[in-house]
Amino acid sequence: MTIKEIYEKIIEHQIEGVMFHEQTSKMLDFLGFKGLKMWQEYRYFSESAEMKSINRYVINHHSMMVREGEPKDPELIPTSWYGYKREEVDNRTKQSALKDLFSRLKAWETETKTLYCDMYKEACDGNYIADAVKIRELICGVDKELEHIDKRHLEYKTVDFDLSYIMEQQWYLKDKYKKKQKELFC
Ligand SMILES: [Fe+2]
Repeated sequence: MTIKEIYEKIIEHQIEGVMFHEQTSKMLDFLGFKGLKMWQEYRYFSESAEMKSINRYVINHHSMMVREGEPKDPELIPTSWYGYKREEVDNRTKQSALKDLFSRLKAWETETKTLYCDMYKEACDGNYIADAVKIRELICGVDKELEHIDKRHLEYKTVDFDLSYIMEQQWYLKDKYKKKQKELFC
């Protein structure tokens, strides 16, 4: 693969990732999970900045721009949901939506990690060592994100996705990610 093809693959996936987190945060907001919404909103802003950093790096270190490829809409939110109001969603639906969302999150970030690792290997094979170091930062980021998702998923599975337990965390999580969002824009 050329270095341009490597970055095109990364940028295309990052656009899909940003769309993914935009949709998870919208869905969590609609379902009333304010803290989890802030967590996913934080991922949205943080990964937008990550994508910006990659684009900037390519321009400044290779004097070229990369195309966005053909990103696909993750279509996380079922179309029928757009016809409902918040108050019409019952607790059983909220619970199963949350379970599904965690599985989708895990699958998405696992795919992201695999892609970044493949691109790292391609960069090393092509002797683009400085680029490989840049891609390595992405691998470390997604690895942490996956660890976080796994921990929270296990925690919720342990309490059988009990809504009173999950709701009690929302104010704490909201504050935590509000602060992290502020740090991001400093
Ligand atoms: Fe992510």
